[in-house]
Amino acid sequence: MEDFAEVSYNGKSFKLPVITGTENEKAIDIATLRSSSGLVTLDSGFKNTGSTKSSITFLDGEQGILKYRGYAIEELAEKSTFMEVAYLLIYGKLPSQQELDKFNNNIKQHTLIHEDMRKFFEAYPSKAHPMGVVASLVCSLSTFYPESQNPNRSSDAVDLTIQRLMAKMPTISAWAYKNLMGHPRIYPNNELDYVGNFLNMMFALPSQKYEMNSAVVKALDKLLILHADHEQNCSTSTVRIVGSSQANLYSSISAGVVALWGPLHGGANQAVIEMLEKIQADGGGVEKWIAKAKDKNDTFRLMGFGHRVYKNFDPRAKIIKKACDDVLKELGVHDPLIEIAKGLEEVALNDPYFKERNLYPNVDFYSGIIYKALGIPTEMFTVMFALGRLPGWIAQWKEMISNNEPIGRPRQIYIGDTEKKYVSIEKR
Ligand code: ACO
Repeated sequence: MEDFAEVSYNGKSFKLPVITGTENEKAIDIATLRSSSGLVTLDSGFKNTGSTKSSITFLDGEQGILKYRGYAIEELAEKSTFMEVAYLLIYGKLPSQQELDKFNNNIKQHTLIHEDMRKFFEAYPSKAHPMGVVASLVCSLSTFYPESQNPNRSSDAVDLTIQRLMAKMPTISAWAYKNLMGHPRIYPNNELDYVGNFLNMMFALPSQKYEMNSAVVKALDKLLILHADHEQNCSTSTVRIVGSSQANLYSSISAGVVALWGPLHGGANQAVIEMLEKIQADGGGVEKWIAKAKDKNDTFRLMGFGHRVYKNFDPRAKIIKKACDDVLKELGVHDPLIEIAKGLEEVALNDPYFKERNLYPNVDFYSGIIYKALGIPTEMFTVMFALGRLPGWIAQWKEMISNNEPIGRPRQIYIGDTEKKYVSIEKR
Protein backbone atom coordinates (compact mmCIF):
# COMPACT_ATOMS: atom_id res chain seq x y z
CA MET A 1 0.00 0.00 0.00
CA GLU A 2 1.27 3.44 -0.88
CA ASP A 3 2.35 5.44 2.12
CA PHE A 4 1.30 9.08 2.02
CA ALA A 5 0.72 12.14 4.20
CA GLU A 6 -2.15 14.53 3.76
CA VAL A 7 -1.98 18.33 3.97
CA SER A 8 -5.24 20.25 4.30
CA TYR A 9 -5.39 23.87 3.25
CA ASN A 10 -8.29 26.15 2.37
CA GLY A 11 -10.77 23.28 2.54
CA LYS A 12 -8.81 21.11 0.12
CA SER A 13 -6.57 18.22 0.93
CA PHE A 14 -3.39 17.20 -0.84
CA LYS A 15 -1.79 13.78 -0.74
CA LEU A 16 1.99 13.69 -0.60
CA PRO A 17 4.01 10.47 -0.94
CA VAL A 18 6.01 9.32 2.07
CA ILE A 19 9.31 7.73 1.11
CA THR A 20 11.29 5.38 3.32
CA GLY A 21 15.07 5.03 3.45
CA THR A 22 16.93 1.76 3.96
CA GLU A 23 17.33 2.51 7.68
CA ASN A 24 13.58 3.16 7.86
CA GLU A 25 13.87 6.93 7.84
CA LYS A 26 10.67 8.49 6.55
CA ALA A 27 10.22 11.70 4.58
CA ILE A 28 7.30 13.50 3.02
CA ASP A 29 8.10 14.21 -0.61
CA ILE A 30 6.79 17.75 -1.12
CA ALA A 31 7.89 18.11 -4.76
CA THR A 32 4.27 18.45 -5.99
CA LEU A 33 3.02 20.60 -3.10
CA ARG A 34 3.50 23.94 -4.81
CA SER A 35 1.95 22.97 -8.11
CA SER A 36 -1.08 21.42 -6.41
CA SER A 37 -1.67 23.86 -3.54
CA GLY A 38 0.43 26.97 -4.24
CA LEU A 39 2.27 26.41 -0.94
CA VAL A 40 6.00 26.20 -0.37
CA THR A 41 7.61 24.93 2.83
CA LEU A 42 9.67 27.15 5.13
CA ASP A 43 12.49 25.69 7.21
CA SER A 44 15.27 28.13 8.16
CA GLY A 45 18.61 26.40 8.46
CA PHE A 46 17.09 23.27 6.83
CA LYS A 47 16.55 21.84 10.29
CA ASN A 48 14.00 19.33 9.05
CA THR A 49 14.54 19.24 5.31
CA GLY A 50 16.18 16.47 3.34
CA SER A 51 17.95 17.82 0.28
CA THR A 52 18.83 14.52 -1.37
CA LYS A 53 18.66 10.74 -1.26
CA SER A 54 22.13 9.47 -0.49
CA SER A 55 23.78 6.10 -0.03
CA ILE A 56 27.06 7.36 1.45
CA THR A 57 26.63 8.06 5.16
CA PHE A 58 23.94 7.17 7.63
CA LEU A 59 23.59 8.83 10.98
CA ASP A 60 21.00 8.55 13.69
CA GLY A 61 21.31 11.53 15.98
CA GLU A 62 19.05 10.13 18.68
CA GLN A 63 20.95 6.86 19.00
CA GLY A 64 24.42 8.21 18.23
CA ILE A 65 24.96 5.98 15.17
CA LEU A 66 27.31 6.90 12.34
CA LYS A 67 28.09 4.60 9.41
CA TYR A 68 29.98 5.12 6.17
CA ARG A 69 28.52 2.96 3.37
CA GLY A 70 27.02 0.70 6.05
CA TYR A 71 30.20 0.24 8.12
CA ALA A 72 30.09 1.48 11.73
CA ILE A 73 32.45 4.36 12.46
CA GLU A 74 33.73 2.56 15.58
CA GLU A 75 34.88 -0.40 13.46
CA LEU A 76 36.42 1.74 10.74
CA ALA A 77 38.28 3.88 13.30
CA GLU A 78 39.69 0.79 14.94
CA LYS A 79 40.50 -1.46 11.98
CA SER A 80 40.78 0.64 8.86
CA THR A 81 43.07 3.34 7.46
CA PHE A 82 42.20 6.78 6.14
CA MET A 83 43.07 5.79 2.55
CA GLU A 84 40.86 2.72 2.77
CA VAL A 85 38.02 4.87 4.09
CA ALA A 86 38.62 7.47 1.36
CA TYR A 87 38.30 4.71 -1.27
CA LEU A 88 35.19 3.35 0.46
CA LEU A 89 33.48 6.74 0.47
CA ILE A 90 34.44 7.70 -3.08
CA TYR A 91 33.97 4.35 -4.84
CA GLY A 92 31.32 2.80 -2.60
CA LYS A 93 33.13 -0.36 -1.47
CA LEU A 94 36.11 -1.40 0.62
CA PRO A 95 39.09 -1.83 -1.72
CA SER A 96 40.99 -5.07 -2.27
CA GLN A 97 44.74 -4.77 -1.56
CA GLN A 98 45.33 -4.38 -5.28
CA GLU A 99 42.72 -1.64 -5.62
CA LEU A 100 44.10 0.19 -2.61
CA ASP A 101 47.69 -0.01 -3.94
CA LYS A 102 46.52 1.36 -7.28
CA PHE A 103 44.58 4.18 -5.57
CA ASN A 104 47.63 5.11 -3.46
CA ASN A 105 50.00 4.93 -6.43
CA ASN A 106 47.76 7.05 -8.62
CA ILE A 107 47.58 9.69 -5.90
CA LYS A 108 51.37 9.64 -5.49
CA GLN A 109 51.73 10.66 -9.16
CA HIS A 110 50.20 14.05 -8.37
CA THR A 111 51.54 15.22 -5.00
CA LEU A 112 53.60 18.06 -6.47
CA ILE A 113 51.91 21.35 -7.17
CA HIS A 114 52.82 23.42 -10.21
CA GLU A 115 55.86 25.63 -9.57
CA ASP A 116 53.89 28.68 -10.71
CA MET A 117 51.42 27.96 -7.96
CA ARG A 118 54.24 27.80 -5.44
CA LYS A 119 54.78 31.51 -6.09
CA PHE A 120 51.25 32.26 -4.86
CA PHE A 121 52.38 31.45 -1.33
CA GLU A 122 54.88 34.29 -1.46
CA ALA A 123 52.09 36.77 -2.16
CA TYR A 124 50.06 35.99 0.96
CA PRO A 125 50.69 37.97 4.15
CA SER A 126 52.79 35.88 6.51
CA LYS A 127 49.96 35.76 9.06
CA ALA A 128 47.32 34.69 6.51
CA HIS A 129 44.90 32.16 8.03
CA PRO A 130 45.72 28.82 6.39
CA MET A 131 42.03 28.15 5.64
CA GLY A 132 41.92 31.24 3.41
CA VAL A 133 45.09 30.09 1.65
CA VAL A 134 43.87 26.50 1.23
CA ALA A 135 40.44 27.55 -0.09
CA SER A 136 41.91 29.88 -2.70
CA LEU A 137 44.63 27.46 -3.80
CA VAL A 138 42.18 24.57 -4.16
CA CYS A 139 40.05 26.82 -6.37
CA SER A 140 43.18 27.89 -8.28
CA LEU A 141 43.82 24.25 -9.23
CA SER A 142 40.95 24.65 -11.71
CA THR A 143 43.00 27.26 -13.58
CA PHE A 144 45.97 24.88 -13.87
CA TYR A 145 43.77 22.02 -15.07
CA PRO A 146 41.22 23.83 -17.28
CA GLU A 147 40.01 20.54 -18.76
CA SER A 148 38.34 19.94 -15.37
CA GLN A 149 35.94 22.78 -16.19
CA ASN A 150 34.18 20.75 -18.88
CA PRO A 151 30.80 19.73 -17.46
CA ASN A 152 30.64 16.70 -19.81
CA ARG A 153 33.07 14.73 -17.76
CA SER A 154 34.19 11.20 -18.53
CA SER A 155 34.74 8.97 -15.52
CA ASP A 156 38.50 8.91 -16.27
CA ALA A 157 38.60 12.72 -16.22
CA VAL A 158 36.71 12.77 -12.92
CA ASP A 159 39.10 10.16 -11.47
CA LEU A 160 42.09 12.25 -12.51
CA THR A 161 40.65 15.31 -10.76
CA ILE A 162 39.93 13.22 -7.66
CA GLN A 163 43.51 11.93 -7.62
CA ARG A 164 44.89 15.42 -8.04
CA LEU A 165 42.73 16.79 -5.24
CA MET A 166 43.61 13.98 -2.84
CA ALA A 167 47.29 14.32 -3.74
CA LYS A 168 47.64 18.09 -3.67
CA MET A 169 45.51 18.89 -0.64
CA PRO A 170 48.20 17.72 1.86
CA THR A 171 50.87 19.67 -0.05
CA ILE A 172 48.77 22.85 -0.16
CA SER A 173 47.81 22.45 3.51
CA ALA A 174 51.36 21.86 4.76
CA TRP A 175 52.68 24.74 2.65
CA ALA A 176 50.00 27.06 4.06
CA TYR A 177 51.45 26.20 7.47
CA LYS A 178 55.04 26.80 6.33
CA ASN A 179 53.88 30.16 5.04
CA LEU A 180 52.44 31.00 8.44
CA MET A 181 55.72 30.03 10.09
CA GLY A 182 57.89 31.79 7.51
CA HIS A 183 59.71 28.47 7.01
CA PRO A 184 60.95 27.01 3.71
CA ARG A 185 58.52 24.63 2.03
CA ILE A 186 59.29 20.91 1.99
CA TYR A 187 58.49 18.99 -1.19
CA PRO A 188 56.37 15.81 -1.07
CA ASN A 189 58.15 12.53 -0.43
CA ASN A 190 56.32 9.76 -2.27
CA GLU A 191 58.13 7.03 -0.40
CA LEU A 192 56.03 7.93 2.61
CA ASP A 193 52.37 7.08 3.02
CA TYR A 194 49.64 9.73 2.84
CA VAL A 195 49.71 10.80 6.49
CA GLY A 196 53.49 10.38 6.85
CA ASN A 197 54.12 12.54 3.78
CA PHE A 198 51.83 15.25 5.16
CA LEU A 199 53.57 15.25 8.56
CA ASN A 200 56.96 15.37 6.85
CA MET A 201 55.94 18.40 4.76
CA MET A 202 54.62 20.07 7.92
CA PHE A 203 57.52 19.46 10.26
CA ALA A 204 60.71 18.63 8.36
CA LEU A 205 63.16 21.44 7.65
CA PRO A 206 65.84 21.41 4.94
CA SER A 207 68.37 21.18 7.77
CA GLN A 208 66.45 18.77 9.95
CA LYS A 209 64.85 15.40 9.25
CA TYR A 210 61.42 14.80 10.73
CA GLU A 211 61.45 11.77 13.03
CA MET A 212 58.28 9.86 12.25
CA ASN A 213 56.50 8.61 15.37
CA SER A 214 54.05 5.76 14.69
CA ALA A 215 51.75 6.88 17.53
CA VAL A 216 51.44 10.30 15.91
CA VAL A 217 50.79 8.82 12.44
CA LYS A 218 48.18 6.43 13.87
CA ALA A 219 46.39 9.13 15.86
CA LEU A 220 46.24 11.49 12.90
CA ASP A 221 45.03 8.71 10.60
CA LYS A 222 42.20 7.99 13.05
CA LEU A 223 41.21 11.65 13.28
CA LEU A 224 41.03 11.88 9.50
CA ILE A 225 38.78 8.79 9.40
CA LEU A 226 36.44 10.32 11.99
CA HIS A 227 36.14 13.51 9.95
CA ALA A 228 35.83 11.85 6.54
CA ASP A 229 32.09 12.34 6.01
CA HIS A 230 29.02 13.44 7.90
CA GLU A 231 26.14 13.50 5.40
CA GLN A 232 24.39 16.80 4.58
CA ASN A 233 26.07 19.31 6.92
CA CYS A 234 26.86 22.95 6.08
CA SER A 235 30.06 22.36 4.07
CA THR A 236 28.89 19.18 2.33
CA SER A 237 25.61 20.75 1.28
CA THR A 238 27.66 23.70 0.02
CA VAL A 239 29.80 21.36 -2.11
CA ARG A 240 26.69 19.72 -3.55
CA ILE A 241 24.86 22.97 -4.19
CA VAL A 242 27.86 24.66 -5.84
CA GLY A 243 28.50 21.50 -7.88
CA SER A 244 24.84 21.38 -8.91
CA SER A 245 25.44 24.46 -11.07
CA GLN A 246 28.03 22.28 -12.89
CA ALA A 247 30.89 24.30 -11.41
CA ASN A 248 34.03 22.15 -11.54
CA LEU A 249 35.05 19.86 -8.70
CA TYR A 250 37.97 22.05 -7.54
CA SER A 251 35.73 25.11 -7.07
CA SER A 252 33.01 23.04 -5.42
CA ILE A 253 35.53 21.66 -2.90
CA SER A 254 36.96 25.14 -2.35
CA ALA A 255 33.47 26.35 -1.43
CA GLY A 256 33.24 23.47 1.03
CA VAL A 257 36.54 24.54 2.64
CA VAL A 258 35.17 28.06 3.13
CA ALA A 259 31.89 26.79 4.61
CA LEU A 260 33.85 24.59 7.00
CA TRP A 261 35.92 27.53 8.24
CA GLY A 262 33.22 29.11 10.44
CA PRO A 263 33.38 28.57 14.22
CA LEU A 264 29.90 27.02 14.27
CA HIS A 265 31.15 24.27 11.94
CA GLY A 266 34.76 23.07 11.41
CA GLY A 267 36.23 26.19 12.97
CA ALA A 268 34.94 24.93 16.33
CA ASN A 269 38.11 22.88 16.95
CA GLN A 270 40.22 26.06 16.92
CA ALA A 271 37.58 27.88 18.98
CA VAL A 272 37.61 25.07 21.60
CA ILE A 273 41.34 25.40 22.27
CA GLU A 274 41.10 29.19 22.35
CA MET A 275 38.26 28.87 24.85
CA LEU A 276 40.16 26.38 27.03
CA GLU A 277 43.23 28.63 26.99
CA LYS A 278 41.08 31.60 28.02
CA ILE A 279 39.64 29.58 30.91
CA GLN A 280 43.16 28.51 31.91
CA ALA A 281 44.41 32.12 31.84
CA ASP A 282 41.40 33.06 33.96
CA GLY A 283 42.44 30.63 36.71
CA GLY A 284 41.00 27.37 35.36
CA GLY A 285 37.60 27.43 37.14
CA VAL A 286 34.80 26.26 34.87
CA GLU A 287 31.64 27.47 36.70
CA LYS A 288 31.93 31.08 35.51
CA TRP A 289 32.13 29.90 31.89
CA ILE A 290 29.21 27.52 32.24
CA ALA A 291 27.18 30.44 33.62
CA LYS A 292 28.27 32.64 30.69
CA ALA A 293 27.23 29.92 28.19
CA LYS A 294 23.78 29.76 29.80
CA ASP A 295 23.30 33.54 29.94
CA LYS A 296 21.11 34.63 27.01
CA ASN A 297 22.54 38.16 27.24
CA ASP A 298 26.05 36.83 26.74
CA THR A 299 27.14 35.74 23.26
CA PHE A 300 29.56 33.16 24.72
CA ARG A 301 28.80 29.54 23.79
CA LEU A 302 30.51 26.45 25.03
CA MET A 303 32.52 25.64 21.93
CA GLY A 304 32.63 21.94 21.05
CA PHE A 305 29.23 21.45 22.66
CA GLY A 306 25.97 20.81 20.89
CA HIS A 307 25.21 19.43 17.49
CA ARG A 308 22.46 19.99 14.97
CA VAL A 309 21.79 16.29 14.63
CA TYR A 310 23.26 14.39 17.60
CA LYS A 311 20.95 14.78 20.55
CA ASN A 312 22.30 12.03 22.81
CA PHE A 313 25.98 11.72 22.09
CA ASP A 314 28.32 12.16 19.16
CA PRO A 315 29.88 8.72 18.51
CA ARG A 316 33.01 10.41 17.12
CA ALA A 317 33.45 12.34 20.38
CA LYS A 318 33.50 9.06 22.33
CA ILE A 319 36.23 7.62 20.09
CA ILE A 320 38.21 10.87 20.17
CA LYS A 321 38.10 11.19 23.96
CA LYS A 322 39.65 7.74 24.27
CA ALA A 323 42.18 8.44 21.48
CA CYS A 324 43.08 11.67 23.25
CA ASP A 325 43.86 9.87 26.51
CA ASP A 326 45.86 7.20 24.60
CA VAL A 327 47.92 9.63 22.57
CA LEU A 328 48.77 11.90 25.52
CA LYS A 329 49.89 8.83 27.47
CA GLU A 330 51.89 7.41 24.58
CA LEU A 331 53.65 10.71 23.88
CA GLY A 332 54.13 11.44 27.58
CA VAL A 333 52.40 14.81 27.19
CA HIS A 334 50.70 16.39 30.16
CA ASP A 335 48.31 19.06 28.95
CA PRO A 336 46.44 20.99 31.66
CA LEU A 337 43.82 21.88 29.04
CA ILE A 338 42.58 18.30 29.11
CA GLU A 339 41.73 18.64 32.81
CA ILE A 340 39.81 21.84 32.08
CA ALA A 341 38.01 20.13 29.18
CA LYS A 342 37.04 17.15 31.34
CA GLY A 343 35.92 19.49 34.13
CA LEU A 344 33.76 21.50 31.73
CA GLU A 345 32.27 18.34 30.28
CA GLU A 346 31.40 16.94 33.71
CA VAL A 347 29.74 20.13 34.95
CA ALA A 348 27.86 20.71 31.69
CA LEU A 349 26.57 17.13 31.46
CA ASN A 350 25.05 17.48 34.93
CA ASP A 351 23.59 20.93 34.38
CA PRO A 352 19.85 21.16 33.57
CA TYR A 353 20.47 23.85 30.89
CA PHE A 354 22.64 21.48 28.83
CA LYS A 355 20.59 18.38 29.70
CA GLU A 356 17.28 19.95 28.64
CA ARG A 357 18.75 21.10 25.35
CA ASN A 358 20.53 17.78 24.69
CA LEU A 359 23.91 19.47 24.45
CA TYR A 360 26.83 17.03 24.49
CA PRO A 361 30.49 17.29 23.49
CA ASN A 362 30.84 17.02 19.72
CA VAL A 363 33.72 15.66 17.62
CA ASP A 364 35.69 18.88 18.06
CA PHE A 365 35.68 19.06 21.83
CA TYR A 366 38.73 16.81 22.20
CA SER A 367 40.22 16.84 18.69
CA GLY A 368 42.08 20.11 19.32
CA ILE A 369 43.84 18.63 22.34
CA ILE A 370 45.09 15.74 20.22
CA TYR A 371 46.21 18.06 17.42
CA LYS A 372 48.04 20.16 20.00
CA ALA A 373 49.80 17.06 21.39
CA LEU A 374 50.80 16.07 17.84
CA GLY A 375 52.47 19.47 17.45
CA ILE A 376 49.87 20.88 15.06
CA PRO A 377 49.26 24.58 15.75
CA THR A 378 45.80 25.95 16.47
CA GLU A 379 45.44 27.83 13.18
CA MET A 380 45.85 24.52 11.35
CA PHE A 381 43.09 22.62 13.17
CA THR A 382 40.35 23.45 10.70
CA VAL A 383 42.69 22.63 7.82
CA MET A 384 43.14 19.18 9.38
CA PHE A 385 39.38 18.81 9.40
CA ALA A 386 39.25 19.81 5.72
CA LEU A 387 41.96 17.27 4.89
CA GLY A 388 39.88 14.55 6.54
CA ARG A 389 36.60 15.71 5.00
CA LEU A 390 37.97 15.85 1.45
CA PRO A 391 37.00 12.27 0.43
CA GLY A 392 33.51 12.80 1.86
CA TRP A 393 33.03 16.00 -0.13
CA ILE A 394 34.31 14.25 -3.27
CA ALA A 395 31.97 11.29 -2.73
CA GLN A 396 28.99 13.60 -2.18
CA TRP A 397 29.82 15.64 -5.30
CA LYS A 398 30.21 12.45 -7.34
CA GLU A 399 26.89 11.10 -6.11
CA MET A 400 25.14 14.39 -6.88
CA ILE A 401 26.50 14.33 -10.45
CA SER A 402 25.65 10.68 -11.03
CA ASN A 403 22.11 11.21 -9.65
CA ASN A 404 21.76 13.97 -12.23
CA GLU A 405 20.43 16.26 -9.50
CA PRO A 406 18.91 19.58 -10.58
CA ILE A 407 20.54 22.88 -9.66
CA GLY A 408 20.00 23.71 -5.98
CA ARG A 409 17.64 26.64 -5.67
CA PRO A 410 15.57 27.07 -2.51
CA ARG A 411 12.43 29.18 -2.26
CA GLN A 412 11.76 31.97 0.24
CA ILE A 413 8.92 33.88 1.81
CA TYR A 414 9.34 37.53 0.96
CA ILE A 415 8.66 39.82 3.94
CA GLY A 416 10.07 43.11 2.61
CA ASP A 417 8.30 46.25 1.42
CA THR A 418 5.83 45.89 -1.40
CA GLU A 419 5.49 48.55 -4.06
CA LYS A 420 7.34 51.83 -3.43
CA LYS A 421 7.78 54.88 -5.62
CA TYR A 422 11.36 55.86 -6.43
CA VAL A 423 12.37 59.17 -4.75
CA SER A 424 15.19 61.13 -6.35
CA ILE A 425 18.34 61.54 -4.23
CA GLU A 426 17.82 65.31 -3.54
CA LYS A 427 14.42 64.66 -2.03
CA ARG A 428 15.39 61.85 0.38
N1 ACO B 1 26.57 26.58 24.42
C1 ACO B 1 25.49 27.10 25.02
N2 ACO B 1 24.23 26.99 24.55
C2 ACO B 1 24.06 26.31 23.41
C3 ACO B 1 25.14 25.72 22.73
C4 ACO B 1 26.43 25.87 23.27
N3 ACO B 1 27.48 25.34 22.67
N4 ACO B 1 24.69 25.11 21.62
C5 ACO B 1 23.36 25.30 21.62
N5 ACO B 1 22.98 26.03 22.69
C6 ACO B 1 21.60 26.38 23.06
C7 ACO B 1 21.10 27.54 22.21
O1 ACO B 1 21.35 28.79 22.82
C8 ACO B 1 19.62 27.20 22.14
O2 ACO B 1 19.04 27.57 23.36
P1 ACO B 1 17.50 28.12 23.40
O3 ACO B 1 16.68 26.96 22.95
O4 ACO B 1 17.29 28.49 24.81
O5 ACO B 1 17.45 29.28 22.46
C9 ACO B 1 19.59 25.68 22.08
O6 ACO B 1 20.79 25.26 22.76
C10 ACO B 1 19.57 25.11 20.66
O7 ACO B 1 20.67 25.67 19.95
P2 ACO B 1 20.65 26.03 18.41
O8 ACO B 1 21.71 27.01 18.12
O9 ACO B 1 19.24 26.36 17.99
O10 ACO B 1 21.00 24.61 17.79
P3 ACO B 1 21.49 24.36 16.33
O11 ACO B 1 21.15 22.96 16.02
O12 ACO B 1 20.98 25.43 15.41
O13 ACO B 1 23.08 24.58 16.43
C11 ACO B 1 25.37 24.19 16.82
C12 ACO B 1 23.99 23.56 16.56
C13 ACO B 1 25.63 25.29 15.78
C14 ACO B 1 26.42 23.11 16.67
C15 ACO B 1 25.37 24.79 18.25
O14 ACO B 1 25.15 23.77 19.20
C16 ACO B 1 26.67 25.53 18.57
O15 ACO B 1 26.79 26.71 18.25
N6 ACO B 1 27.68 24.83 19.21
C17 ACO B 1 28.96 25.43 19.48
C18 ACO B 1 29.82 25.43 18.22
C19 ACO B 1 30.31 24.05 17.86
O16 ACO B 1 30.82 23.31 18.69
N7 ACO B 1 30.19 23.72 16.56
C20 ACO B 1 30.69 22.44 16.03
C21 ACO B 1 29.55 21.57 15.60
S1 ACO B 1 30.16 20.01 15.11
C22 ACO B 1 30.83 20.28 13.60
O17 ACO B 1 30.46 21.11 12.81
C23 ACO B 1 31.92 19.43 13.26
